[in-house]
Amino acid sequence: MVRDLLPLLPSEPHTARRPHRWRLFLHSNGTLKIGFFSIAFIITGIIVYVASFPPYDPSWRLPDWHLPSRFDPDSLELADPNGPLHAPSPSPPSPVSDVLTLEQIRDIVAPTRGFFSRDYSLHLGWNNVRYIFEAALLQAELLNRTLVLPSFLYARACEYNITVCANYATMVNKGDAMGSGQWDGLPIEQQMGFRIPISAMVNITHLRSRQPVITASEYLRLHGQDPESESGNGFWARQSYHTHPNVFETNKTKTPSLFVIENHWYSSINTIRVDYISEAMKRRGKLERHSEPYHYNGSAEYWPPQETTELSVFLRWRGHVMEWGTAMSVLEEKSDLVGDVDLHDDQVVEELLNVHGWEVLHSFNTFGMDPAKLIIGPARLVAQRSSIRGFKDDFHDEDADVVVLAGETHGDTRAGAMMFTEDLQRKRFASSVVHSLIPPQKVLDLAEVLSLRMRQRTGGRMWMGAHMRRGDFVEFGWAMEMGPEDHIQRVKDRLQAGRTALVDLHYNHNWQTYDDLDGVMLDPEQATLPPPRAEDPFFIATDERDPDARRTFAAAGAVFLSDLLTMEDRRDFGWPLMITDLVALVEQQLLVRSSFFYGHGLSSFAGAILNMRAGRGADPRTTVLD
Ligand SMILES: *[C@@H]1O[C@H](CO)[C@@H](O)[C@H](O)[C@H]1NC(C)=O
Ligand SMILES: *[C@@H]1O[C@H](CO)[C@@H](O)[C@H](O)[C@H]1NC(C)=O
Ligand SMILES: *[C@@H]1O[C@H](CO)[C@@H](O)[C@H](O)[C@H]1NC(C)=O
Ligand SMILES: *[C@@H]1O[C@H](CO)[C@@H](O)[C@H](O)[C@H]1NC(C)=O
Ligand SMILES: *[C@@H]1O[C@H](CO)[C@@H](O)[C@H](O)[C@H]1NC(C)=O
Repeated sequence: MVRDLLPLLPSEPHTARRPHRWRLFLHSNGTLKIGFFSIAFIITGIIVYVASFPPYDPSWRLPDWHLPSRFDPDSLELADPNGPLHAPSPSPPSPVSDVLTLEQIRDIVAPTRGFFSRDYSLHLGWNNVRYIFEAALLQAELLNRTLVLPSFLYARACEYNITVCANYATMVNKGDAMGSGQWDGLPIEQQMGFRIPISAMVNITHLRSRQPVITASEYLRLHGQDPESESGNGFWARQSYHTHPNVFETNKTKTPSLFVIENHWYSSINTIRVDYISEAMKRRGKLERHSEPYHYNGSAEYWPPQETTELSVFLRWRGHVMEWGTAMSVLEEKSDLVGDVDLHDDQVVEELLNVHGWEVLHSFNTFGMDPAKLIIGPARLVAQRSSIRGFKDDFHDEDADVVVLAGETHGDTRAGAMMFTEDLQRKRFASSVVHSLIPPQKVLDLAEVLSLRMRQRTGGRMWMGAHMRRGDFVEFGWAMEMGPEDHIQRVKDRLQAGRTALVDLHYNHNWQTYDDLDGVMLDPEQATLPPPRAEDPFFIATDERDPDARRTFAAAGAVFLSDLLTMEDRRDFGWPLMITDLVALVEQQLLVRSSFFYGHGLSSFAGAILNMRAGRGADPRTTVLD
């Protein structure tokens, strides 16, 4: 086995210290540097890893599965040979590997208020779809509903001639399947995509252990409908999904009711969407509920008008929501209106803002890289109270069987697609991003093996890696360098800086983790390996397929996934490894394991790696995005 081939590793007890404050610096040239301010180091010794990740919601556990049995009283009651709707027909094999029985699906939904779903934009790449899933998990949880995810995703490319992949995965014309003209006019290879089960990308069993989740095909089976009738573009079918009663429903005319949260209700102009309005905030603003039984412009509650103060007007000139720093500069500028308060005391400032009708909200620092949806550091924002809308407040009490949030919410928003009124909830969300949506075990296992192979290539030293997005980024002019020579040189320069950082960490033994994430432990391996040497090969994840460009990269020391994979790996993993999107998933997990990672700040692929590295306990100084 690979492990046996590894050189012996130094196993001296290492010194590790508590995480300290770290900061990312955005240099004027756009380079992001990660530095940190050390406070007194006092703790020496070996970190004892005691924490374990709590389940997402400890109050929710998988129900004890009912064994499918012909003596199940529910099935007996429903046995009606003439009723095609509720006599659960033997369904065609589900794309999800572990097929749930109807009773199991029912039991997942039972402890919740019903279903929640979204119009999933399946035409997007996986890392963007992932953001939608992350936000949807949070939204479903706030409404105490079972999240319905699509049962399949679209992979965008095949590593070989498309006819090869088409022998293993359903090939679709992406435009036809998703009702979009986005691919029209492209060569036929690029118009085609592959429908792959969601379980190829996500460990659904693991996700279900943390939150009630089913797939759309399971929803359809539960309602006696053909799972094959699942909508092709990921949108919730407003009509056809509501034509059949739940198979366990005794009233045969009762079809599931639907409530649609209109997209402009979710984020309307001059409002700010938060998870829920805290009790203290409600009291301060004397929040009232609309008396009408229906939603008043999509909001169940309203803030009665309040007397505006001069200071509030000055703040409002800067927007209805702003960074804490911006609010502070207004307060400093208008010190005559502020009076005799200590602006260095955050608590005092917050109280002052509250008095003037403003509230402090919590979200994530984007570090200037909005598309990356980073969850690695906090951001405090200040919002005008009257513009705040609570998602739970507005939609939790809705009684419909199915609640659907229409359209997309990830466009201009930070991770979570909403702000948090309490910092604890923000941290919980960050933890769910890192620990709920994980790839299937075999992706993780393969990445582990490949990481060991990289280490063999570096003589047992730490290895470094980078992501070079080319393809469409070169076309759009977003790639960091257009020419392959310049691009690989840039990567080598960043990795050289990375090597210096690793040497420094190795000799100073002051490894840290991202201190904003709960339950993260220092990656024990990173602190034990010898640092890389300048001439060491490095790993490159790239969508570059031009042989000349790849030769240029290889000559510079780059190792590709195809160099690391053996025939045995491919046989063990199976056909999904022929699909580019799955290859990318493995590359991503491999880079999560690198000792140093360099990627592009505009790329959601790299952003996800940074988030996952943080969750794995990487040191903040071992990642650079620019
Ligand atoms: C969720 O809804 C179910 C069904 O209405 C209810 O029994 C349960 O207490 C709710 N859970 C929470 C956390 O509110
Ligand atoms: C892919 O294979 C098909 C069938 O063998 C062939 O007709 C086609 O030209 C190939 N496409 C490319 C791009 O090589
Ligand atoms: C069955 O459901 C329908 C539709 O929701 C409703 O109108 C009807 O009153 C229900 N019948 C009984 C017996 O509850
Ligand atoms: C609802 O919103 C629309 C547009 O935002 C606005 O014109 C209208 O006055 C609102 N209705 C009420 C009753 O507030
Ligand atoms: C899913 O994750 C669990 C750990 O939570 C693991 O035991 C299981 O093997 C994984 N399943 C798949 C299909 O990856």
